[in-house]
Amino acid sequence: MSKPALHSIHVALGLRSYPVWIGAGLLADHTRWRPLLRGRHALVISNTTVAPLYLPRLEAGLAGLHWSSFLLDDGEAHKSFANVGRALDALGQLGATRDACVIALGGGVVGDLAGFSAACWMRGIDFIQMPTTLLAMVDSSVGGKTGVNLPVGKNLAGAFHQPRAVIADLDTLATLPAREYRAGLAEVIKGAAIGDEAFFAWLEQHADALAARDVDAVLEAIARKVQYKAGVVARDETEQGERALLNFGHTFGHALETAGHYTTLLHGEGVAIGMLLAAQLSERLGMSEPVDTARLQRLLQRLGLPVAIPPGMDARQLLELMRLDKKNAAGQLRLILWRGIGRAEIVAGVAEAQVLVTLDAAIADARPAD
Ligand code: NAD
Ligand code: GLY
Repeated sequence: MSKPALHSIHVALGLRSYPVWIGAGLLADHTRWRPLLRGRHALVISNTTVAPLYLPRLEAGLAGLHWSSFLLDDGEAHKSFANVGRALDALGQLGATRDACVIALGGGVVGDLAGFSAACWMRGIDFIQMPTTLLAMVDSSVGGKTGVNLPVGKNLAGAFHQPRAVIADLDTLATLPAREYRAGLAEVIKGAAIGDEAFFAWLEQHADALAARDVDAVLEAIARKVQYKAGVVARDETEQGERALLNFGHTFGHALETAGHYTTLLHGEGVAIGMLLAAQLSERLGMSEPVDTARLQRLLQRLGLPVAIPPGMDARQLLELMRLDKKNAAGQLRLILWRGIGRAEIVAGVAEAQVLVTLDAAIADARPAD
């Protein structure tokens, strides 16, 4: 098969604008990314799974700089304040000056922590995202949301800090486990579901190719999702309005992830089930038609994503967890719902009774027949 084309997408944020490059062989293409490093210092933040696979591809490009690496242990539990402290210590040991650059090589865990560390060092230095999961390529590396988890909750400490560039090397997906790949597809579907019906139809047409990880289909899906997100971020960088739509499925999804103690479901899997619950609730509220819910469910299933609430979860417990969501205001549930494919909306004051009925119905549907 021929080498896929390079896509370059511009995130338009005035002086803080940056490119997202998506293509094959980009990590080893030093002549492309090396000029982005302005100073003499670089810290590569990665983890113990990704670094052995891909850090060697960067090394020749870092030659001549004062650079070192800081590796996290693998897993969401390591996206912690304690590790930000360690990353800042590593910058200190390097003698990093204001023109230093942090390179985030890994999935969303690495990218969020590395970006936050870059935001903290000397009140903000450059960082480059080099995402190696599908989820990070299509979502977390773009848009400048950085942060870590606290014992009281996920992503509660953070900063908006835009990267200097995002370099998504498709070759890294070759080693990505199938389940992680599918979880990334949920975030692709989300972009189409909330704001781009033509893209949703394209995903339906190319579902088999995407399930088979066809390189051209994967490249186009990533590029279209990133293009969509770049537009949203350019219009609403700090989530005063439209950007909240990117949380479609997330209030339900986070509750499901938390109820499963972050071990039952991956983030993208929680989002997949959460999007379907949001569609079911929208239908119940008379905002959308059953045909839209059915199309979403079918696409999720064709791409191997879960659509049922896992066994043992309780509707009241999930509702309780949803009350803690960051989008809620004045004690009211504020959810992202839709009027059908491509038409998501922020809805405040959603009646809890309707949420409970939706959750109860989904739990009953998921129960195996006697
Ligand atoms: P992750 O970073 O934990 O990566 C998933 C797994 O894949 C890990 O075990 C990782 O070591 C492994 N891995 C990564 N790249 C690999 C490769 N190329 N080959 C083999 N294994 C590889 O998880 P994720 O799904 O990438 O990101 C989830 C995180 O992103 C969460 O912390 C979530 O809160 C955050 N997130 C942030 C944003 C944002 O806007 N900042 C958006 C969505 C999600
Ligand atoms: N993942 C949601 C956002 O970037 O706003």
